[in-house]
Amino acid sequence: MSHMSRLTQGLHGEVAVPGDKSISHRALMIGGLAVGETAIHGLLEAGDVHRTAMAMSALGASVKRRDGGEYRVAGRGVGGLAEPSSVLDMGNSGTGVRLLLGLAAGHPFTSFFSGDASLSARPMQRVTAPLSRMGASFLGRSGGRLPLAVTGAPDPIPLVYELPVASAQVKSAVLLAGLNAPGATTVVEPRPTRDHTEIMLRKFGAEVVVEPLPEGGRAVTVTGQPELAASDITVPGDFSSAAFAIVASLIVPGSKLTLRRVGINPLRSGLLPTLREMGAEITVTTLNDGDGEALADLQVCASELRGTDVPPERAPAMIDEFPILAMAAACANGTTKLRGLGELRVKETDRLAAIARGLEACGVRVEQAGDDLTIRGKGRPPPGGAQIAVELDHRIAMAFLVLGMTTQEPVGIDDAAPIATSFPQFIEMMNGLGAKIERESAS
Ligand code: S3P
Repeated sequence: MSHMSRLTQGLHGEVAVPGDKSISHRALMIGGLAVGETAIHGLLEAGDVHRTAMAMSALGASVKRRDGGEYRVAGRGVGGLAEPSSVLDMGNSGTGVRLLLGLAAGHPFTSFFSGDASLSARPMQRVTAPLSRMGASFLGRSGGRLPLAVTGAPDPIPLVYELPVASAQVKSAVLLAGLNAPGATTVVEPRPTRDHTEIMLRKFGAEVVVEPLPEGGRAVTVTGQPELAASDITVPGDFSSAAFAIVASLIVPGSKLTLRRVGINPLRSGLLPTLREMGAEITVTTLNDGDGEALADLQVCASELRGTDVPPERAPAMIDEFPILAMAAACANGTTKLRGLGELRVKETDRLAAIARGLEACGVRVEQAGDDLTIRGKGRPPPGGAQIAVELDHRIAMAFLVLGMTTQEPVGIDDAAPIATSFPQFIEMMNGLGAKIERESAS
């Protein structure tokens, strides 16, 4: 169903965005490996996380929702998952499938994974390569793509693995497989990526050691075969969802918005320093740690933004925020350079191409050279007036709807359904704050 976003007069109010997607996946998976019953408060109730909940149930964990939205996961213990009797359809969820491949790789049974057209086009070899070295075997399409079968290792081999790409999904897949291996499994990451897996494993009682490396990287080691104890998890608001409301408030004149209890893990929230460099007025009030995850209330006021240069080293800490940052850059005064964006090509769609194409259609000058994107802002919103093909990508859909809030001509998207994979309340929440996002009639 296509939607369009029209010029709005300002966004105002106070909201809490839904739970963090990355942390929600991990809570279900690690809860499923613990001994006892894990309670999860604030789990993200969205398509991707539902897929993981269903998959964990199929693998033998019991996942139940209570009235009021709390989830209970009865775990099977490390190494205790059971062979699923049907194909695990992971929908659109790259995190779901890659982390579950790690879990399945450490269990001696065969499971089958499938996904939608977007997920089936994404590379899985980045996880199957290290997991094969731990003793698992895989049968998939060319490039190791889904649908994919995995037969886990009866005796997984601990591994020392240097990540060829900065990817928290690959790191987490190897660490989760390493849970069932005797001895230490180490992932060396040249650039630190989000550490939600490490934080949560520790919370459940695993031994996880993180060593800084000379060039800024890290070595993360998990000791295998721990007894994980069920825990109580409160999931923070998703910074990646909050990012859409943050940028919307910055670029729609007159806006003032407060976002409550947002996760601001420093390895996730690289958008904040970037926006500040652009002149954004954002007040961060830190709150007590939520389960080792940094938490804050954020207050955002409409601001006059200027162009900036985002260094490639910062990319992993804001990898999901480039689509929405690009919308801010399109309204800023001057040139913004986004560098080291190679990984955007293998997200839910080729985001590098989708951002460039969409912005050009909205009247913005954009240059793409290799993995870098240059966006030339004019200090006022671009004309808009384009219809964007979202290609099953929730973040492309939300980013362009945000741009349409400040352009003279509306910005449309051809399909709003993918938004439900991460942020089902997005349209209703933004409209509640003053946005004008409407369903387009099929005429
Ligand atoms: C995620 C890691 C990132 C990110 C994705 C969630 C995670 O992917 O883009 O949305 O939860 O570990 P990569 O690890 O492939 O960069």
